Amino acid sequence: MGRVGLGVAVGCAAVTCAIAAALVARRASARARWRRAVALLREFEEGCATPPARLRQVVDAMVVEMHAGLASDGGSKLKMLLTFVDALPNGNEEGIYYSIDLGGTNFRVLRVEVGAGSVIINQKVEHQPIPEELTKGTTEDLFNFVALALKSFLEREDDQDLKRALGFTFSFPVRQNSVSSGSLIRWTKGFSIEDTVGKDVAQCLNDALARCGLNVRVTALVNDTVGTLALGHYYDEDTVAAVIIGSGTNACYIERTDAIIKCQGLLTNSGGMVINMEWGNFWSSHLPRTLYDISLDEETQNRNDQGFEKMISGMYLGEIARLVLHRMAQESDVFGDAADSLSSPFILSTPFLAAIREDDSPDLSEVRRILQEHLKIPDAPLKTRRLVVKVCDIVTRRAARLAAAGIVGILKKLGRDGSGGVASSSSSSGGRARGQLRRTVVAIEGGLYQGYSVFREYLDEALVEILGEEVARSVTLRVTEDGSGIGAALLAAVHSSNSQQQVPI
Ligand code: BGC
Repeated sequence: MGRVGLGVAVGCAAVTCAIAAALVARRASARARWRRAVALLREFEEGCATPPARLRQVVDAMVVEMHAGLASDGGSKLKMLLTFVDALPNGNEEGIYYSIDLGGTNFRVLRVEVGAGSVIINQKVEHQPIPEELTKGTTEDLFNFVALALKSFLEREDDQDLKRALGFTFSFPVRQNSVSSGSLIRWTKGFSIEDTVGKDVAQCLNDALARCGLNVRVTALVNDTVGTLALGHYYDEDTVAAVIIGSGTNACYIERTDAIIKCQGLLTNSGGMVINMEWGNFWSSHLPRTLYDISLDEETQNRNDQGFEKMISGMYLGEIARLVLHRMAQESDVFGDAADSLSSPFILSTPFLAAIREDDSPDLSEVRRILQEHLKIPDAPLKTRRLVVKVCDIVTRRAARLAAAGIVGILKKLGRDGSGGVASSSSSSGGRARGQLRRTVVAIEGGLYQGYSVFREYLDEALVEILGEEVARSVTLRVTEDGSGIGAALLAAVHSSNSQQQVPI
């Protein structure tokens, strides 16, 4: 080999070595970045951990806060609001009743025809999405929209001349003055119409109804949890509480009036009253809060509020997962160059999170489709898709287990958690005789719970872990369909002047 040939050979070898070294370095750095993504995942998983011991601490904190909220207004982040519902439908109601259900993403108008013996003869439910701009506009625009929807609904009915009782489900925190009036404390779930805060929302609706020429007035103003409880109780009188897990989350239950210390001397015929807990605002240092929860809170309009809701409900779960994936994208290259879309808040909605977690195809083809079509991340390899599934799983599991702890908190307050708490002998609302377990039904509703089977499984599993199998067997979670709206119509029946159908609670 001549000198030239030798030079070329040495040159080639050097280039090959350099390429090999670069490849090795690239692989090593890719491995390091993958390790970083996995480390972030582990850290997130640890931060979200909800072992039974921690769930029990959450249960106890919930009970403490329930007492504090019942003792004084402002005594706790749990508002424990009076509803003035001291009688629930008993199945003897008869007639045609209407209701309006204004909640999270959906708005519904309902007509319910009931006959004696807990028979719903007929029900008609019309769903409409609320235009986004109305959730941030003016009080008048929002309530005009609601009133006009009712008007158009009624115009298509035969029973136009009937005297109508109207139930109004308004799924936001309201300080009630009576069963048919109450002022908005603050908006949640992304609504923000400043001038409604402090106003009587039943009056706002009555005014809008009058503006569009309708001779209908609100007979019962109820939270969605209270409507759900009313329908649950209508079918099954062992129903003592109701929970909503949808865009937002909340619970209500039947409390003895003598336990509502902040309203000393409150008299009801039944000795009981439904309390709207507004548990979405529950807070405790035992809640497993991560950096991502803090970032999420900063993105919302109601900062420092609704902490429990922001860990549990449909409005937020997808966003928590998005924040985790975004950090992974920034600190590793698991999503390649195409990860820009992960920087857009709320791009990963909770229905997508659920679909990702529930993809049971061997190659996670649904995950691939969602990443490609909705997050603009093409060609994510299988191991990256698995990572995404795991993030969605962690978010779901924590949410469902915390909701379970909330439910057990209510059961414990009622002495129905099997721990031998306060026993109450007489009222159907209160407790169990010592040593004996009473059947307990919790009505439950909401898109997240009803539409996401993995969420339900995690929640059931946690109930058994906290309560133990025997006690958990005495507790039934019963899904009611459209209960928030139908229940409001039934409460309108109970509270309308032409009806005396009520059962003390
Ligand atoms: C509201 C509650 C409501 C819950 C479920 C929360 O954001 O504050 O009043 O019951 O969402 O819709």
